Amino acid sequence: SPAGPNQANSTTGTTTVITNIGTLVTNDPSLGDHSPLGLIQDAAVVIEGDRVVWTGESSKAPTTDNALDAGGRAVLPGFVDSHSHLVFAGDRTAEFNARMSGRPYTAGGIRTTVAATRAASDRELEANLTRYLDEALRQGTTTMETKSGYGLTVADEARALRLAARHTDETTYLGAHIVAPDHADDPAAYVALVTGEMLDACAPHARWIDVFCEKGAFDGDQARAILTAGRAKGLHPRIHANQLTHGPGVQLAVELDAASADHCTHLTDADVDALASGDTVATLLPGAEFSTRAPWPDARRLLDAGVTVALSTDCNPGSSFTSSVPFCIALAVRDMGMTPDEAVWAATAGGAAALRRTDVGRVAPGAQADLVLLDAPSHVHLAYRPGVPLVTGVWRKGVREV
Ligand code: NIG
Ligand code: FE
Repeated sequence: SPAGPNQANSTTGTTTVITNIGTLVTNDPSLGDHSPLGLIQDAAVVIEGDRVVWTGESSKAPTTDNALDAGGRAVLPGFVDSHSHLVFAGDRTAEFNARMSGRPYTAGGIRTTVAATRAASDRELEANLTRYLDEALRQGTTTMETKSGYGLTVADEARALRLAARHTDETTYLGAHIVAPDHADDPAAYVALVTGEMLDACAPHARWIDVFCEKGAFDGDQARAILTAGRAKGLHPRIHANQLTHGPGVQLAVELDAASADHCTHLTDADVDALASGDTVATLLPGAEFSTRAPWPDARRLLDAGVTVALSTDCNPGSSFTSSVPFCIALAVRDMGMTPDEAVWAATAGGAAALRRTDVGRVAPGAQADLVLLDAPSHVHLAYRPGVPLVTGVWRKGVREV
């Protein structure tokens, strides 16, 4: 990230005020219009060091050392992308082309990326990772979760997480992405490795543990064993659940109090009821449905049942090669029954809930100063103007990065 003139912010406690904001999304319902988005019109934000210290009407803003006039443009929390797979090498253009001429998506394509990732150097993998993190940052993502899962050996999974942990605190051990090709004849032995030696090597570099619970990957019993073993090592569960078919993943996620059940494309009423009864967030990943020509997850059904919904990119070379949260917001509004307000909340506060974070995903006193400035008067334009690069400023921990 560039060391701009504001770099000193986080250490010296410099105070900056952004005034003349058209619409400010705080995600604090005690502020502004008291909606879930806590909207304040003609607003200002004061940042001190890496924190937000004041929000309110622009006319009442305190004067500070540094002032920036937003010119009536919108400010919202930085996006919290709670689901991505960015430690990989290689390319799956051929598979995408085949899909777009009618082939279905299967978990089998993961093997292509595993082979390329194992063959890559640390430098190559880290260069790929930082390229996609920078790409996402330019589109407004200030918190990014990312997973292992394309190594599938003790050394390659630990390497992926060690590299990822240099760039984000939100690292997820996904040794259980598929049964490693070298263990195809003996899935039980692979589960023993994932819950044993591989877990021991990966746990120091990871916050979360994840399993792809799906036909062609891991069944419910295997997923339960893997997540339980991870929890015993201090990793908190999240699950790839019900992406390609109905399955046990969503109810298992709620049973284990997983932070999130991700995908949620094929849901029974019992799955929706389970999500509504617990604290597990339903993370919807419309980039995957877009890029696999699968049916859209029904966000409206989940929201109407009272489920907390997050929106993330699932950025990976197989099923969803986009790092753009604004693109996912537009899809969710157009095709999944979400209002623009709901989709923006899901991509900010919802992502924070899926990572069990309260310091990000909102712009209110005490929150980390992660902000997006749009070249538009309100957050609604993210859906109203699909495909247009509206993100024109990004602050992370009080430092202007874009
Ligand atoms: O979330 N579903 C499993 N994992 C990824 C796809 C990985 C791949 O195809 O390489 C997903 O869609
Ligand atoms: Fe995924």
